[in-house]
Amino acid sequence: MNSDSESPSRAPAPIIGVTDRDLDRAASVILAGGLVAIPTETVYGLAADATNGVAVAKIFTAKGRPSFNPLICHVSGIAMAEELAEFSSLARRLAEKFWPGPLTLVLPRRPECPVADLATAGLPSIALRSPKHIAALGLIARVGRPLAAPSANPSETLSPTTAQHVAHNLASKIDLILDGGACAAGLESTIVAPGKSGAVMLRPGALPRAAIEQLTGPLTAPEAASGVLAPGMLRRHYAPRARLRLNALDVTPGEAFLGFGAPPPGVLPSLNLSIRGDLEEAAANLFAMLRTLDESHSMIAVAPIPGAGLGEGINDRLKRAGALA
Ligand code: TXA
Ligand code: MG
Repeated sequence: MNSDSESPSRAPAPIIGVTDRDLDRAASVILAGGLVAIPTETVYGLAADATNGVAVAKIFTAKGRPSFNPLICHVSGIAMAEELAEFSSLARRLAEKFWPGPLTLVLPRRPECPVADLATAGLPSIALRSPKHIAALGLIARVGRPLAAPSANPSETLSPTTAQHVAHNLASKIDLILDGGACAAGLESTIVAPGKSGAVMLRPGALPRAAIEQLTGPLTAPEAASGVLAPGMLRRHYAPRARLRLNALDVTPGEAFLGFGAPPPGVLPSLNLSIRGDLEEAAANLFAMLRTLDESHSMIAVAPIPGAGLGEGINDRLKRAGALA
């Protein structure tokens, strides 16, 4: 399966649903070493059997992803996770409170962890999360093993929040696409590394900082913590082709305007992330709207987005999407 991922003549992956039969079919593709795009509550993931190094290698090829950038392993819950990683009591409390859900924990890898070294890029740690999506959990249960799954997009481009986004960019490089509809959150998981003295936030995301800090106390930034980094936090990432102008209060000729809340006087937004200024709605719309405007414009002005709550993750993605190549 997927033995010829470089060939342009490869048939596009079928898009199927998420019925029990569909999940059975997806599980057999995964167990045969293939690649399946799966819905999660955050964004679509490109899943392979995390214990099969050859299958994991196909993820890196299909995405054009640097092999030093490790993958998140998706688990059914704490019991499966504990076979892979060492849980401190803080890590366990975080998992108990937020799993299944959009929190990824970076934890010390157990010596007997069966996950392929390529999935963790040879690091002594492993990133784990249990997705809050019935189809993703149903697939993990059928496979009975962790699924390595980065977002299902070519490296550095916008993350997919529908099956159609996945098909558009990756159909000829993967084996199957499960269509579970649009993702509820629309922003990737928040990544946290719980340590002995507090915890580090490696990536802001769909779980707001304040919810996590109730258990961890103040989260430190990766720069402040020596030695812990998410290798995937590239400066330019999640990027459309168009140039972005952030915190825009006006629009210049030729630019699209991506609004949030009430538009500045005289500006007619091309699209609005949330007319009522709701950050959850804005997160869910972010990648799909950037994609749409990218098709018709080479410059996109983006309204200011407040930094609180989900705004931290939204602004992080916008900053990276707007970084110059
Ligand atoms: O919501 C999500 O997290 C989605 C869905 C599909 O689950 N997945 C996702 O995966 O965003 P990806 O590969 O696009 O981003 C994973 C991030 C990367 O920045 C990577 O460097 C970091 O997690 N990461 C993975 N393993 C790590 C580790 N052991 N230590 C530090 N960072 C790690
Ligand atoms: Mg990604």
